[in-house]
Formats: sequence, structure tokens, C-alpha cells
Amino acid sequence: MDKIVVTGNGPLQGQIPIAGAKNACLTLMPATLLSDEPLTLTNAPRLSDIRTMSTLLQSLGAEVSSLNEGRVLALSSHGLDNHTADYDIVRKMRASILVLGPMLAREGRAIVSLPGGCAIGARPVDLHLKALEAMGAELELRDGYVHAEARGGLKGAVVEFPIVSVGATENALMAATLAKGTTVLKNPAREPEIVDLARCLQAMGAQIEGAGTDQITVEGVDRLHGATHPVVIDRIELGTYMLAPAIAGGSVELPGGRIDLVGAFVEKLRATGVTVTETPDGLKVARDGDGIRAVDVVTEPFPGFPTDLQAQMMALLCTAGGVSVLEERIFENRFMHAPELIRMGARIDVHGGTATVTGVDRLKGAPVMATDLRASVSLILAGLAAEGDTVVSRVYHLDRGYERVEDKLSAVGAKIERVPDDD
Ligand code: EPZ
Repeated sequence: MDKIVVTGNGPLQGQIPIAGAKNACLTLMPATLLSDEPLTLTNAPRLSDIRTMSTLLQSLGAEVSSLNEGRVLALSSHGLDNHTADYDIVRKMRASILVLGPMLAREGRAIVSLPGGCAIGARPVDLHLKALEAMGAELELRDGYVHAEARGGLKGAVVEFPIVSVGATENALMAATLAKGTTVLKNPAREPEIVDLARCLQAMGAQIEGAGTDQITVEGVDRLHGATHPVVIDRIELGTYMLAPAIAGGSVELPGGRIDLVGAFVEKLRATGVTVTETPDGLKVARDGDGIRAVDVVTEPFPGFPTDLQAQMMALLCTAGGVSVLEERIFENRFMHAPELIRMGARIDVHGGTATVTGVDRLKGAPVMATDLRASVSLILAGLAAEGDTVVSRVYHLDRGYERVEDKLSAVGAKIERVPDDD
């Protein structure tokens, strides 16, 4: 396991490239199971989660090859020779549950391990299962696995989600493309990754209307053909790196950055006094010498403030002038970065789903531990402006969602390096 050492080193300057979206790619890859023709994904991010999904798909009998140094994924699933997604792979990455809908829709059967919880919450999949049952699937939970069957195929249905779920929307949307008849998804997730998935499925011949709105209608078709699809830019990586100059000072350009992907986040970032401008080829973020103003944040489904940027925003607010209140409404345990930031001198009071942050003049570098993907990167961001060295251990969490963070940040002047962790 590696560690990352980051030392406060003054303002940043330069460009940070943003990769394709991890959370789009993790739902686009299983879409290959819907067709016996090749699916090619371009602008794919090079992350360990993507490699895990490749391994899972290959274990089912799909072919996945990574070309152009991992930027292009060529997938095909002529005929699956295994319909069981094994616990050993699924437990490493919850998104594995996204093979359930497409495999059931095309093959009429699927056995998928329940993903289990993770650090940020119990992460149930009941909404995924209810949606597929509504489409006629027969499901049985046995020995930690979902045994699913759809003899004669799935049928169109009206599916109303009681709460917004990104993954359940993705599973239902993929399954509906091959169901007989019309499926209406009510109160679906509206995240850009859903819109990107719908675009890819449409390129494969699916009949989908309303992705990105509060109702999606799908006319089932008999089969889907192959396609080539560019993975949408990663809005969470974008927001994360927009916070680097906000925390350390300076000015950073983010080519390909799009305001529409991070609207609610940009509104809050501007409210702290950080300048965000649209340039001909992306976004530019600058912070002059002035201090950061405190702001309150509530995480909500898109288009609200994304839960995946809450930890990173907290790192900025630790040195704001005043008190900020962050309310985490999506997951039940997503403040694990708080105790680590407190080790760096932050003043944070956590009560249930609310964290009250009282800004301090400057954080102090300290040894800290990464606990989950977004918490890890918030510690790196905090270290950019802290006095002295911050040593982040267990960075394998980080590598799940960020390509070589030390390279991207050192290219704009940060003092950051990856070292082997000898303990
Ligand atoms: C996706 O997770 C993302 N992961 C998460 O990103 C992201 O935080 C989350 O959406 C919310 O935006 C991927 O796309 C791979 P949900 P997902 O279903 O689909 C509850 C990251 O850091 N729920 O929208 O699992 C659930 O417990 C990761 O990249 C049910 O109760 O999230 C949560 O409280 C972390 N029953 C809420 O809904 C269900 O069947 C939202 O979860 C499903 C979800």
C-alpha cells in the first residue's frame, strides 16, 4: 500500500486535465451485456474500479480489452457462459450490482451476490430488486445472492421510485430497453451519468425519452446493436480539482469542464468568494489573496449539491472565516473525513447528518488515514494549504476514483508525492 505526502506550498497555477466519469463508465460497461455486438467506450478513465468491472464482466464470459493505454474499452458479450457474479468480486465494488438488470434482460436469468454495505452506509439494493420485480422478474435471496429469473423475458411496467437512486435507475433503465412493451420510470435519478447511459443505449438502438427529467419512458425493442460511445467527463473529479486553487490559492484551468455538470456546486463555490469563469475550452477557477467566506451546504440528488463533493467542500470550509453547516442527506455515515481533518486542527462538530465547521486560520499537516474514496481526496486537498507535511495512508481508496492525483496536482505546483507505505 502507498502513502501520499502533501506539503502546503502556496498558490497553484496551470491546467488540470479531467478524465471520463468513473460513475458513468461503471454503468456503461455492463450495457455490453444487452447486445451480442461490440460496444466501444472512449474517454474511459484509468482506475482500479474500472479494472474490477472488467474482471467481473470477463468472469461472466464477456470480452473486455483495454486499448490506447486504457482510454478505450472494447467490450463484447457474444454469449455468456456464466451467469453468476461472484461475491469475491462484488464485495470489492458495489457497482457490480449493475450487471443484474442487463444480464436478466438479455439472458432471462442472473445470480448476483448482494453487494453488502460499505464505509459510508448500509447501501441496500431493495429499489433495484423492486424495479425488476415490477418488470416481471422472479427474485429469490439465497445464501447472500440474488437469484433472478425472467422466463419469457421482462415486460414493460410503471416503476415509481420512493427515493431517488442512481444505481436502481440505471439497472431499471438498462433492463427496460429489452422488456416487452413500455416502461415508465417515475422519480428516477437525473444525474448526468443517467443521461450519458441513455445516450449510449440510444446509440445501441434503445427507444428512450426523458433521461435527465423526473420521468423516463422506454419502449422495449427485440435487440440492441453495437455502438461507440464517449464517456462523459467526470463532474466529481472536476469539482474536486476546482477546489484545489480554492484551497491553496492561485488560478487553475480545467479543460473540458462544463458548468451544467456542476451547477449547484459552482453556486456554493462562488458564494465562498472563489472566482469561477467559463473559458472557450472549459472552466477556470481562481482565488486571490482574500479569505474564504463560510457557506452552508445540503447534499441532494442532482441537480442539487452532490454528496460526492461534500467531503471536499468541507476541506475548503475548514479555513473559511466563520461557521458553515453541512447537512449530508444522501448517506447515513459520510463524515469520516471529519476526525481526520480535526487531526489537522480543523474545528468540526458532527451530530448525526449535520457537521458544523468553524473556520480556523490555517490547518497543520499531520498523518491521516483515508477511509473512503471522497474522504481520501478531501485530506489531500486540506494538505495543499496546511502548514507542513500531511501524510495520507491507505491511498488505495483514492486510486479507485482518481487517476494519479499526485501527478495532476504537482503539474500545477503542488508539493505532493507518492511513497511506499512500509508499515
Ligand atoms: C451512486 O451510488 C454513486 N456510485 C455514488 O458514488 C454516489 O454517491 C451515489 O450514486 C449518490 O449520488 C456509482 O455510481 C457507482 P444511490 P448508488 O442508489 O447508486 C439509498 C462515489 O464516491 N438506496 O443513489 O449506490 C442508499 O442507501 C460513489 O463515486 C436504498 O435505500 O447510490 C442511499 O442512501 C459513492 N435502496 C440513497 O438511496 C436502494 O435500492 C442514494 O443511493 C438503493 C439506494
